[in-house]
Amino acid sequence: MDQSLHVVILAAGKGTRMRSALPKVLHPLAGKPLLSHVIDTSRQLEASVHVVFGHGGELVPATINDESINWVIQKDQLGTGHAVEQALPDISNGLVLVLYGDVPLTRLETLKTLVSRVSSAQGPDLCLLTAQLDDPTGYGRIVRSSNGQVLAIVEQKDADDEILSITEINSGILCVRADKLKAWISQIESNNAQGEFYLTDIVALAVNDHCAVDAILADNIWEISGVNNKVQLAELERQHQSNIAFKLMTDGVTLADPSRIDVRGNLSIAKDIFIDVNCVFSGDIHLGNNVSVGPGVVLENCIIGDNTRIFANSVLSDCKIGSNCNIGPFARVRPDSVLANNVNIGNFVEIKKTSVDSGSKINHLSYVGDAVVGSGVNIGAGTITCNYDGANKHTTVIEDDVFVGSDTQLVAPVCIQKGSTIGAGSTITKDTPAEKLTLSRSRQTTIQSWTRPTKS
Ligand code: UD1
Ligand code: CA
Repeated sequence: MDQSLHVVILAAGKGTRMRSALPKVLHPLAGKPLLSHVIDTSRQLEASVHVVFGHGGELVPATINDESINWVIQKDQLGTGHAVEQALPDISNGLVLVLYGDVPLTRLETLKTLVSRVSSAQGPDLCLLTAQLDDPTGYGRIVRSSNGQVLAIVEQKDADDEILSITEINSGILCVRADKLKAWISQIESNNAQGEFYLTDIVALAVNDHCAVDAILADNIWEISGVNNKVQLAELERQHQSNIAFKLMTDGVTLADPSRIDVRGNLSIAKDIFIDVNCVFSGDIHLGNNVSVGPGVVLENCIIGDNTRIFANSVLSDCKIGSNCNIGPFARVRPDSVLANNVNIGNFVEIKKTSVDSGSKINHLSYVGDAVVGSGVNIGAGTITCNYDGANKHTTVIEDDVFVGSDTQLVAPVCIQKGSTIGAGSTITKDTPAEKLTLSRSRQTTIQSWTRPTKS
């Protein structure tokens, strides 16, 4: 039997309660659209992915911009059954897993269990993901026979008091054989309280056909929780972050407070890492052994070497930091910067598109951009590379063992040769010779005849 898996993700809802111009499924959770979370989980199931999007929601395929997805438009929202039906012409056989673009946190393991039920030799033709809720208001209820067989799903608006008292609810997520789904969907009618074509009606149709219907309970409510408004978005964001924090801690990371970390990307870690409160990690980050990250640090697309310490409120993006470095507090390392081992970047220092070789120090209040800094260099407080002439950027080369005195401007293009010393307060416009002291400064004078004015 054809067991190929097709995931159909329903994403046609307008999301009115988000009160936003952005389609609901594009709102970010952990920095990534809700829909992308569902797509990424589907990918891990090695499935063909079909996304049903709404009329006017063209921004959805344009933003997700993934050629491998089959985008299916649902012009009018006539119900979940009608939505799934739009994707069926593109599905010949195999299994269909129905997911929702606004339900981002369903675990891969849960979906695998659901699919494996239906794909197993003696498995049912249809398996539902359900949950037990203390307050089931609003959800479709799972109606079972006295011996526990699933008989039907009844929507809240169509339910009588007896059905309303059922606490097992339909998550909406289900797996079904494609051939059966096609047969049942064609029989769905809209004679219900909402005048919609309910996907949930396939349950009663399956039972009527003497086909087995199974259901598994979700382990966690957040796995089936959807986003309808900003409150629910924030709740799921916290849940997701708490899941990530839990995983980091079980992998050995020490978190000062697991409720105060935000990971919006892939954080890969070595051993014995400490992360203080209120840090944000975006994109692809790797932290080496014994790395310590101070409070309020923001890291985006960085590789941090072993034993490096990043102090409070530093912001690093698209850069590579070696081992045994000290960065910050209040340092900013901008894209295309590469720091070797044993480098110190201190407070209020900005580094941009610059390489710094081993053992060099830029400790206070400096801007070093478009520069190549050698090893063993000491750059004094308040040093500026004047890299921009208003039209073009130019490179500053600072060779090994250079000492740059405080409050120096290096007007690029310029080369400070090996072992040069630059006197404090200099404006350097020409290359400096190796091993010499170079300075540019007007001579200090004292006016002997001067007296301080007195108040008249
Ligand atoms: C649906 C289920 C209900 C379940 C609940 C879980 C049906 C009939 N009911 O109810 O049993 O407890 O989900 O949240 O399926 N959508 C489309 N096109 C449509 C209609 C809906 O894409 O024409 C999408 C929506 O964007 C939404 C999802 O399907 O993401 C669910 O639709 P909605 O109308 O909200 O279903 P519920 O009434 O919540
Ligand atoms: Ca709903």
